[in-house]
Amino acid sequence: MNRKKILVLMGGMSEEREVSLRSGKAVLDALLTLDYEAQAIDFNSSTIKDIIDYQPDLVFIALHGKYGEDGTVQGLLESLQIPYTGSGVAASAICIDKVLSKRIFSSEGIPNAAFRIIQSHDLDDPAALRQQLIANIGLPMVVKAATQGSSIGTYIIKDENEILTAINQAFKYSREVLAEKFIDGQELTVALIGNNELQVLPLIEITSANDFYDYESKYTQGMCDHIIPARIGEESQADIISISKKVYKLMGCKGFARIDFMLAKNGQPYVLEVNTVPGMTAMSLVPDAARAAGINFTNLIEIIVNLGLESNY
Ligand SMILES: Nc1ncnc2c1ncn2[C@@H]1O[C@H](COP(=O)(O)OP(=O)(O)O)[C@@H](O)[C@H]1O
Ligand SMILES: [Mg+2]
Repeated sequence: MNRKKILVLMGGMSEEREVSLRSGKAVLDALLTLDYEAQAIDFNSSTIKDIIDYQPDLVFIALHGKYGEDGTVQGLLESLQIPYTGSGVAASAICIDKVLSKRIFSSEGIPNAAFRIIQSHDLDDPAALRQQLIANIGLPMVVKAATQGSSIGTYIIKDENEILTAINQAFKYSREVLAEKFIDGQELTVALIGNNELQVLPLIEITSANDFYDYESKYTQGMCDHIIPARIGEESQADIISISKKVYKLMGCKGFARIDFMLAKNGQPYVLEVNTVPGMTAMSLVPDAARAAGINFTNLIEIIVNLGLESNY
């Protein structure tokens, strides 16, 4: 009988609260099936005492986005000396920030789409900014908030008259905004599990009913397809696996993570971003990839728990 006490943190205050509640419930069910003593709480600022009072052996972080996936909760748990699942403070804080991540990718030779970082003062001369973006990035371009997830604050821009509106919209979600070259090709995602020894799960190709993999396609049944194995050649596959491992180590990820890619039509892969607390709902990508590797959802949760317990917080 395994009676370790595990507290699931879910919900929280981010834009991805609803997704997190679904992830948390699925995780809790699996933990109870595994016979852990487990409980889930909706995490907000008033529940720090609840965490302490529960005296968990481990906290399972099922929070997505700000105040959960970004290192803040990880820092809180470190201060309380409570082990937790997934990546630590630094890796979480870097991966949630697409601007910081891209600075690291670029300095370490990780292929990523050409970009320009936009700060609020760049809007002092909007016409100049728009001209620079058209000249340096070109259309179509992707405008995205630096620290959002679930495609919230992400816009694919085909018409130059929409650039500034999108930038202003994206600034509602974060202090910095990215303008990125649109990569025309296949969308892929790679799930990895491990602390030091890494297991790369089967690559997933994502197709979406909408223009891109937006919030609606991510969370509406039937609006996207997860194709496993991804319909790509062996060379691309080997390339993407090798980049994924390099990125996971480079960012200092622990436990598990999911790395998003675009594979351009000429065979060049580009890393989009690293998700340190990827969705864990029944229709999420990581559980799907695990299933294709013969790891069912409950097994996957057990693996993540054990990696959390063995990793130094
Ligand atoms: N440079 C790009 N080229 C083509 N599509 C992109 C690009 N960047 C983002 N996208 C699309 O937008 C989606 C969300 O972007 P992503 O960077 O993964 O942020 P998040 O998933 O955190 O919202 C991707 O899944 C993809 O469909
Ligand atoms: Mg993504």
